[in-house]
Amino acid sequence: MLRFAPLRHYHMGRILEWRNQNLEAWRTPRTLTMLDQYKWWWKVSHEKPCTHWAIYDNNEFIGQGEISNIIPEYGIGEIGLIIDPKKRGKGRGREAVYNILRIGFLELNLYTIFGEVYHCNAARTFWESIYKDMGGTMTILPCRKHWRSQYYDSTYFSISRDQFVRFARGMV
Ligand SMILES: CC(C)(COP(=O)(O)OP(=O)(O)OC[C@H]1O[C@@H](n2cnc3c(N)ncnc32)[C@H](O)[C@@H]1OP(=O)(O)O)[C@@H](O)C(=O)NCCC(=O)NCCS
Repeated sequence: MLRFAPLRHYHMGRILEWRNQNLEAWRTPRTLTMLDQYKWWWKVSHEKPCTHWAIYDNNEFIGQGEISNIIPEYGIGEIGLIIDPKKRGKGRGREAVYNILRIGFLELNLYTIFGEVYHCNAARTFWESIYKDMGGTMTILPCRKHWRSQYYDSTYFSISRDQFVRFARGMV
């Protein structure tokens, strides 16, 4: 079972290494430096309540998850996730998403959690299977990412608290 913990400075080296291996996935188009990574950590680690987490599996640090761009007045936030490339493909990503959604809806009291995945990112099928399972909605936005001399569309998806709760009830 995965465990979520607050993000600490000592997580930043690994996250930087993972992140810079998948530049096609992120809004920021360039590789980050360690200084960029620490600045980011300094900003997000002071948020209350905690919305950015280190993910552990059996006491091993295997990923980082978050809900960012929260607008409390509207009850919306954006999901983000990265799993250590060596630990992918074993169901940890899916389990981490369920955990993030559970915290977002049931602890942070959000109403809608959305995400954006670029079509140049292989993780597109991962997110598709998640929002489809939950009865979420999606739309395609044109030309959202420029990657290796080409424009790519993105899928914007959205899951509501009601959809998540219905899905979670079916799991128990
Ligand atoms: C996306 C990501 C978090 C998935 O983590 P993971 O631990 O590999 O995911 P899981 O093992 O839980 O995979 C669940 C399902 O998605 C599929 N899947 C996961 N990653 C995939 C990928 N890159 N390409 C195709 N399918 C993928 C798996 O085959 C699996 O399908 P199944 O349930 O039918 O067997 C991980 O690939 C990652 O960190 N990617 C880089 C960062 C990124 O793209 N983040 C999202 C930005 S929008």
